[in-house]
Amino acid sequence: MTVEIRVADPDERLAALRPIWHYFGAPFGPEEERVARMLLPEGRTLVAVDDGTIVGGASAFELDLTVPGGRVCAAGPTVVGVLPTHRRRGILRELMRVQIDDVHDRGEPLAVLWASEGGIYGRFGYGLASISADAELRRPHTRFAREVEWPGATRLVAVDEALALFPQVYDRVAAETPGMFARGAEWWEQRTLADSEWRREGGGELAFAALELDGRPEAYAVYRLNFSYTDGVPTGKTVVLEAMGATPAATAAVWRYLLDIDWMESVEAELLPIDHPLHLLLLEQNRMKFRVGDGLWVRLVDVGAALAARSYAGDGDVVIAVADEFCPWNDARYSLDGSKTTAPPDLRLDVDALGSAYLGGFTVGQLARTGRVEELTPGAVERADALFRTGRAPWTPEIF
Ligand SMILES: CC(C)(COP(=O)(O)OP(=O)(O)OC[C@H]1O[C@@H](n2cnc3c(N)ncnc32)[C@H](O)[C@@H]1OP(=O)(O)O)[C@@H](O)C(=O)NCCC(=O)NCCS
Repeated sequence: MTVEIRVADPDERLAALRPIWHYFGAPFGPEEERVARMLLPEGRTLVAVDDGTIVGGASAFELDLTVPGGRVCAAGPTVVGVLPTHRRRGILRELMRVQIDDVHDRGEPLAVLWASEGGIYGRFGYGLASISADAELRRPHTRFAREVEWPGATRLVAVDEALALFPQVYDRVAAETPGMFARGAEWWEQRTLADSEWRREGGGELAFAALELDGRPEAYAVYRLNFSYTDGVPTGKTVVLEAMGATPAATAAVWRYLLDIDWMESVEAELLPIDHPLHLLLLEQNRMKFRVGDGLWVRLVDVGAALAARSYAGDGDVVIAVADEFCPWNDARYSLDGSKTTAPPDLRLDVDALGSAYLGGFTVGQLARTGRVEELTPGAVERADALFRTGRAPWTPEIF
């Protein structure tokens, strides 16, 4: 391959995004430029250059990711793209090679990403690690099995106040939810609460609701009201971009608020966890359309460090033989404390399968039943499941 892969110079960082932007079929506007400049870390954006022209690019966020029982530094590959003029010549493979080696050199145990297409990343050792869902409800069928009454205040706030209040709730939820990552003030301002034209897709402006109790924020919602009126009746739609509560009561209350907004015929919400509380809150759960798809993909870049970084439910141990073609430094047998061992293995699997189990999104039993885990010691799958078990499904409420 004559195409050169290298770290983008600071003045090339935006050009590195153009290959993926080509696929959006939209101009790369000044707003996108500003956000990219602010949020993409220096020195982590790669370009693929063919005879002086940038034909491919990839970058990575630096994330502080919640894993079961802890937090870990993770690379978050993003804006991966190769122009259609240069597709299927191995440029993505080279970008992935350079990126994963860099993540390894930096000592980040994990890389996590959202995949545009399911077929791309397994070959590089990423495993599907969570399920993400979209929900659609028609308002006449949104009664709760047990009605809730929020004892505190609910207020619509301007973006400045949202910036001050919402992180307080998010941080509490993120601390106990594998798959969520810390957001800095810039991230909140430039991404989560930014009402950019292209995200609006012709819908209403972003609205911010805060639910407080004793002066403290307990839940929030970021949503749009897409107003419409058809044949003399209101047929609008509430589009929920993000809603969460720090307690069960606050979570129920924020959803009650969203489901009760007048004039709206339906409510749509994206990027929900598979175990979303609405399943049990709603009286007529079967009226909710809940479409599931892939969520976060996890790549253990340093298997030992990644195993050591999470906690396990109970004492015990299983010895896991990990095969990793793309990152041969991982090819070894491991105890759950992350140490390499020569003890006979109880389970054998490829690194992508371990990525699928890592956040608790898939059980070792599920992986075994699809041939992705080989049980070498009878009962080891059940033992591993007991140890890897987590209290809640992994959830990443945004695509990056
Ligand atoms: C996806 C994309 C980056 C692939 O780039 P590329 O340079 O053509 O990929 P490569 O030639 O390096 O292919 C590497 C391997 O991935 C496979 N592959 C590439 N794109 C794939 C896709 N969309 N689905 C499934 N497999 C794919 C190739 O067949 C090849 O397989 P092999 O290792 O078995 O030979 C490029 O097509 C693109 O930019 N697509 C649109 C934007 C996008 O989806 N980006 C990813 C964002 S998460």
